[in-house]
Amino acid sequence: MEPTMMTSSTAMRSQYQTQTTGMTAMGTSVMTTNMSTYNQHTLFTKQNVLAVPGFLKVSPDDFEPEKQLAEGGMGSVWFCRLKTNEIRIQAGGRNVCVAKISKVDLTKDQEAMEAFYQEIAIMYQLSNSKNIGKIVGYAESPHVLLMRFYEQGALESFVRKGLPGFPYTVQAVFEIVYGISNGVASMHRRWIAHSDLKPANVLLEIVYGPRGSFLRALLTDFGISKILADKLQVRAFKVANVFGASFLYAPPEVIQAFTNPDATVIGDRRIILPGDLYSLGAIIYELIHRNPPWL
Ligand SMILES: Nc1ncnc2c1ncn2[C@@H]1O[C@H](COP(=O)(O)OP(=O)(O)OP(=O)(O)O)[C@@H](O)[C@H]1O
Ligand SMILES: [Mg+2]
Repeated sequence: MEPTMMTSSTAMRSQYQTQTTGMTAMGTSVMTTNMSTYNQHTLFTKQNVLAVPGFLKVSPDDFEPEKQLAEGGMGSVWFCRLKTNEIRIQAGGRNVCVAKISKVDLTKDQEAMEAFYQEIAIMYQLSNSKNIGKIVGYAESPHVLLMRFYEQGALESFVRKGLPGFPYTVQAVFEIVYGISNGVASMHRRWIAHSDLKPANVLLEIVYGPRGSFLRALLTDFGISKILADKLQVRAFKVANVFGASFLYAPPEVIQAFTNPDATVIGDRRIILPGDLYSLGAIIYELIHRNPPWL
C-alpha cells in the first residue's frame, strides 16, 4: 500500500470523531457484559493467555488523528499528534505517532478482538528488538493501536521511488536485509511467526550515527502473526482472515493451506516459521530487482 499522505481535512477528523463517539456508546455496553472475558488488560481465551500491560492503555483524548497515511483491510492508518505529557513520555518524548484504527466494531467480533490484543501483546513482547516497530499504546472505544511514526514510510515506497538524499545502493540493500533478518530472528526466537512479511509491512528509519547514517528496517503489522510457543496453541483463523496475507510473498504450502479451510498447516510451526524465510527471500529478490518475484 502506498503511504499517501492525504491532506489533513476537517472532514476526515470529524469522520474519526463521529466514529469515536458512536463506538464509545456501543463499546461501553458490550464491554460491560464481556468483562469476565476481557479482564481489563489481560486477555484470557480458551486457546491463548496473552498479557497486555495496563500502562499501554491510553485514552482517545490523548491523541488527535491528523492525516490518513493508508487504508488497510482491517483498519485505517493515521498520522496523529499527541496531546498529553503522559502519552508523550510513553512515546519516548515524541509529539507524534501513528494510529491504526480498526474499521470494524471489535466488540461484535470476538475473533477480531482477540487478534487486536494479540497484535499489541506481540509488539510489546518484541519491543526490545531494534528491528520491530515500537508500540506506543492502545485505546479502546474505538480500538486503536498506537505506534511510533516512521517518516521514511514503508520499504514498498523505497523500492519504487527511493528516498530523497539516500541513494539506492548495495550498501542500503544490505542494511535493509540485515534489519529485516534481525527482526525475523527476534520473532522466531520467541516462537512467533510474522506470517505477512512483505515490503508494505517493513518500515524504514534513517539512523544518524558517528560513522554516518544508515537505514534501519522495522517489521510492522502483526495482525495475522502467530504465537507458536509450546504452551500456546495457535489461534484458529477464519479463512477470510488469513487471506489478508499477500500471495506474492507467501510460500506455496502456506497458500495451499489458506485456500483449504480444513488444512491444519496454519498451526504447524514446521511450516509457518520457514514460511517467513520464504517471504524474506522474496523481499530480497525484490530489493535487488526492484520488482517482486513472479511478476
Ligand atoms: N508507524 C508507521 N509510520 C509510518 N507509516 C506507517 C506506519 N505504520 C503504517 N504505515 C503505513 O501504512 C501502511 C499500512 O500499515 P499496516 O500494514 O500496519 O496496516 P494494515 O491496516 O494492516 O494494512 P494492510 O491491511 O494493507 O496490511 C504501511 O505500508 C505504511 O505505508
Ligand atoms: Mg500491512
